[in-house]
Amino acid sequence: MTKDARKEIKSVAIIGAGVAGLTSLFELLNTRKDGTTNLAYSSDGKFDEANTNENKNPAFQKIVGFELKSSIGGIWSPNFDTPDFIEQKDLDSERYDDPLFLRPPTEAPSELYNRGYTFSEPLITERPDTPSPKTWAASGIYQHLYSNVPQRYLRNSFIPYSENQEKQNSNIAPLITNYSITESLLDFAKTHRLEKHIRVNSEVVKIKKVSNGSWRLTVKENPKNSSLTRWYEEDFDAVLVSNGHYSIPYIPRIEGLSKWVARYRDSVLHSKSFREFDKFKNKRCLFVGTGLSGIDILQYVFPVAKEVIVSRTPDKEEIYPWLTKAATSEGLIKKPRIKELRPSENRKVIFQDGSIVEGVDHIIFSTGYHWHYPFLNEGVSGLSVIKSGQKVLKDSASMVDGLFLDTFSIDDPSLAFVGVTVTPLKWPSFELTASAIAGVWANASSLPSKDSQLSAISQRKKEMGENLLFHYFPPMHIKELMARLEHFLPKGRKAADIIDLKHLSDFEKAAEVAERLFYLLKNEEIELSETL
Ligand SMILES: Cc1cc2nc3c(=O)[nH]c(=O)nc-3n(C[C@H](O)[C@H](O)[C@H](O)COP(=O)(O)OP(=O)(O)OC[C@H]3O[C@@H](n4cnc5c(N)ncnc54)[C@H](O)[C@@H]3O)c2cc1C
Ligand SMILES: NC(=O)c1ccc[n+]([C@@H]2O[C@H](COP(=O)([O-])OP(=O)(O)OC[C@H]3O[C@@H](n4cnc5c(N)ncnc54)[C@H](OP(=O)(O)O)[C@@H]3O)[C@@H](O)[C@H]2O)c1
Ligand SMILES: *[C@@H]1O[C@H](CO)[C@@H](O)[C@H](O)[C@H]1NC(C)=O
Ligand SMILES: *[C@@H]1O[C@H](CO)[C@@H](O)[C@H](O)[C@H]1NC(C)=O
Ligand SMILES: *[C@@H]1O[C@H](CO)[C@@H](O)[C@H](O)[C@H]1NC(C)=O
Ligand SMILES: *[C@@H]1O[C@H](CO)[C@@H](O)[C@H](O)[C@H]1NC(C)=O
Repeated sequence: MTKDARKEIKSVAIIGAGVAGLTSLFELLNTRKDGTTNLAYSSDGKFDEANTNENKNPAFQKIVGFELKSSIGGIWSPNFDTPDFIEQKDLDSERYDDPLFLRPPTEAPSELYNRGYTFSEPLITERPDTPSPKTWAASGIYQHLYSNVPQRYLRNSFIPYSENQEKQNSNIAPLITNYSITESLLDFAKTHRLEKHIRVNSEVVKIKKVSNGSWRLTVKENPKNSSLTRWYEEDFDAVLVSNGHYSIPYIPRIEGLSKWVARYRDSVLHSKSFREFDKFKNKRCLFVGTGLSGIDILQYVFPVAKEVIVSRTPDKEEIYPWLTKAATSEGLIKKPRIKELRPSENRKVIFQDGSIVEGVDHIIFSTGYHWHYPFLNEGVSGLSVIKSGQKVLKDSASMVDGLFLDTFSIDDPSLAFVGVTVTPLKWPSFELTASAIAGVWANASSLPSKDSQLSAISQRKKEMGENLLFHYFPPMHIKELMARLEHFLPKGRKAADIIDLKHLSDFEKAAEVAERLFYLLKNEEIELSETL
């Protein structure tokens, strides 16, 4: 075990109250001081709510969740509001592919620091009319969205599931609608009264280690129905970061893009801003990027558009084989990456092979998102995660460096992350990770030496490369993820209770259904209402 982590951890701050934050909160609340778990499972491996009583001897006496938005749920708490897009002045800067430029750290007033302002006695300032900086808080979920993961795995083990609850006659089973996901997540939070541990409208703008070994958080709260902002600092023994990484859009830098948007406002969007497809009716639409987002939106736009052009890296294998097939399917005009945009020459697009398409009405960037931790970016001493570690590689396919098992800061394991691992089993992986953190922080287990943590990282880099694959565990490798984390869990906690290995074939079924729906929708062989 590394020396600095041997301080007893009694208070924990959780940054973000999406799926990852809520799952972590429940796990930590149910870990006991003696390193055992308070969570009960029945012999068939189901979470046993009746026997999970109040935790009489909690390991962590104080746990506070901080949530920037006015409600919990993260991505799955959409309000289908005015979507986010990059402002003209930011496009004009030609730095719109830099996450630190798009989302700089929020600056607290200098008079806040070291004056003893607290949650109950904060520094109060007037709130400016336009919030600064832009927080990118809107969700990318749209009305028509259904899941790309089977229902069984779109939940942590604390959310009940029964075989017959899937609507077998639904066109989309085992997939589910956006609403079902939101509903089950919020039900979980309600059942276990998680909200009382969470401060909403509260952005963690900075965290730093202070001399006595605590983490000092700087918090900006914009209370509901108030024109004032409350600023304060609060100390915690440990910080769990679960801020998500699908909120700040990645737009590749392309010559002419800024001029194009200036001239034809609303003709360019990122998949995050997609809401309705009416505006694409009879239009020439250019899709850039054909990952899950690109293909998902394309299936709605294709039937109404005049023409659909697809710009993607030639011969690229998408994350699922069916996506690659869909991206090159009949009726689509296939192009390589864009070289240049010339809005003044009849909306001309020049591709990297020299070919040209004119009269393009809409450009839809489905080019992914940035990983970004603005609250960690400022000279946080000893943090390799962000300072030297977060390597922004080409495009959005970054990796986060400096974390042992995608989870514990190697420099200081009282800082841990949930949600860095990339897998279609997101919810189970959040739970497994949170459980490992609970185990280590409750001293039920200890991490190997820094040296062996570092060598584990170099080993994985050698095997997977320094890109997104470093964090990637598809269903067929999920056992490896379990093996990495299971010996850190609280005593009595089992990885097998968290990840159901018996139904992994549901993922194949899910991909088949997603593929079938793609062609049915694209070819107008199904009504949209039938996907509900
Ligand atoms: C269009 C779309 C479709 C998707 N579909 C699926 C799907 O079908 N299946 C699936 O498994 N996954 C899907 N996902 C992935 C989805 O992101 C995960 O399911 C899950 O929501 C991730 O949870 P999270 O808690 O990590 O992040 P989020 O849901 O993003 O939650 C993070 C929270 O942290 C808050 N926060 C951020 N910074 C701060 C701060 N400084 N202070 C306080 N709070 C902060 C944010 O406001 C947010 O509420 C989809 C994502 C997108 C964008
Ligand atoms: N429930 C659903 O159905 C649903 C729908 C949408 C999204 N999601 C989720 O949202 C998450 C994000 O998915 P995403 O598709 O938005 O992002 P993504 O997986 O990061 O995909 C981005 C794509 O853009 C491409 N790209 C980047 N720069 C490009 C350029 N200059 N020209 C052409 N292509 C470029 C990338 O390919 P290169 O390798 O060539 O760069 C990549 O294929 C996923 O986890 C997914 O599960 C789910
Ligand atoms: C953690 O557990 C180890 C034994 O495994 C013990 O030596 C150590 O004192 C414990 N630390 C704390 C802070 O309780
Ligand atoms: C998505 O959720 C919204 C409400 O939250 C709902 O109006 C919409 O019908 C849902 N979409 C689907 C496909 O269920
Ligand atoms: C560190 O000091 C702050 C006050 O400056 C206090 O709130 C916090 O509890 C202290 N932490 C420890 C571990 O003593
Ligand atoms: C906040 O304002 C809205 C209308 O602006 C009102 O309906 C609501 O009751 C107010 N809530 C509180 C807590 O004051």
